[in-house]
Amino acid sequence: MSTPNPRTRAQQSKRTVSIIGTGSYLPERVLTNAELTKLVETSDEWIVSRTGIKERRVCAEGEATSDLAANAAQAALENAGIGADEVDLIIVATVTPDMFFPSTACFVQQKIGAKNAACFDVSAACAGFLYAIEIAQQFITSHTYDTVLVIGADKLTSIVDWTDRNTCVLFGDGAGAAVLRHRGGGHGVISTFMASDGGLSDILYIPGGGSRFPAVDEKTGERLNCIKMAGKETYKHAVTSMLDAANKALADANLDPEDLACIIPHQANLRIIEAIADRMKVPMERFMINLDRYGNTSAGAVAIALDEANRTGRMKVGDYVLLVVFGGGLTWAASVIQW
Ligand code: ACO
Repeated sequence: MSTPNPRTRAQQSKRTVSIIGTGSYLPERVLTNAELTKLVETSDEWIVSRTGIKERRVCAEGEATSDLAANAAQAALENAGIGADEVDLIIVATVTPDMFFPSTACFVQQKIGAKNAACFDVSAACAGFLYAIEIAQQFITSHTYDTVLVIGADKLTSIVDWTDRNTCVLFGDGAGAAVLRHRGGGHGVISTFMASDGGLSDILYIPGGGSRFPAVDEKTGERLNCIKMAGKETYKHAVTSMLDAANKALADANLDPEDLACIIPHQANLRIIEAIADRMKVPMERFMINLDRYGNTSAGAVAIALDEANRTGRMKVGDYVLLVVFGGGLTWAASVIQW
């Protein structure tokens, strides 16, 4: 066991931050692998054997990221047993905001009636939810805010190239939310490790639609506004980065993998999770997995899985839980929480 680093010691001297409620929302429409075979040359067998994904959810006509996020937020507030007017800050992690501005968090504020909250979005792709959890924790431990609503939400089907079989089979829409607050009793977020490598931005990215290549330009035919991914490179970095983040967060918390009751990883690919389980020497039963039903919902993925783990009793009070994520940027992070 390593000695906790100064950052962790600093956290220990401040008030602890607990997740006091979780929620999630998935759109009703199910898109199966069989349906995708009508769009691109693929098969259910290829998708399941390479990824573990059987189906994913797709937003209804007119449904946007803030609609998913607001539904997940309502569920989290109910689960926490608090009113929307008690929320001091709303952070939405997303790469598919309703608009560039206002922030999706502002739309959520309006939809749920959290009139006392400050609002902003965080962009860290699939790692966004844990980045936002860490930001929330900083605001609470510093006594700036008491109650923070963190949401991971993405409508990835709005940025999928439906002619690209390398990517279109992987993604879906969904949102998850958590309410954070100091609860007393010492339980809560124990350690978080975050990292980024902008040098690898070109293995997983959306080139168009921003200030570099504005949405309406002559390059639209190249589908620059859709996800581009070097799958094998992404896979390799996902495994090594998530393992590294997990090990660092565990070391900060002074815990070993066998101390964990539940591991909630980013839901991109079952084989990535199996590789991590193998290297951490933790049985697969301890990993929360729902990617077979939802695919990769980016910032929503780990948040939805956290809510499912909470609602199905996977975590008991006092259990150690590891959340670990990876996404475009590249970005990656891990948090150890005592439930
Ligand atoms: N159906 C059938 N064949 C396909 C499909 C498909 N949907 N997609 C690719 N293929 C083909 C390829 O064209 C290739 O054919 P070729 O050999 O003739 O060129 C063949 O299948 C094998 O492709 P590989 O790239 O070797 O397949 P691999 O086993 O690496 O699996 C996958 C591909 C699933 C994309 C994998 O690399 C992966 O999961 N990577 C990580 C993805 C990830 O985590 N992304 C999300 C990050 S989070 C975020 O920020 C969005």
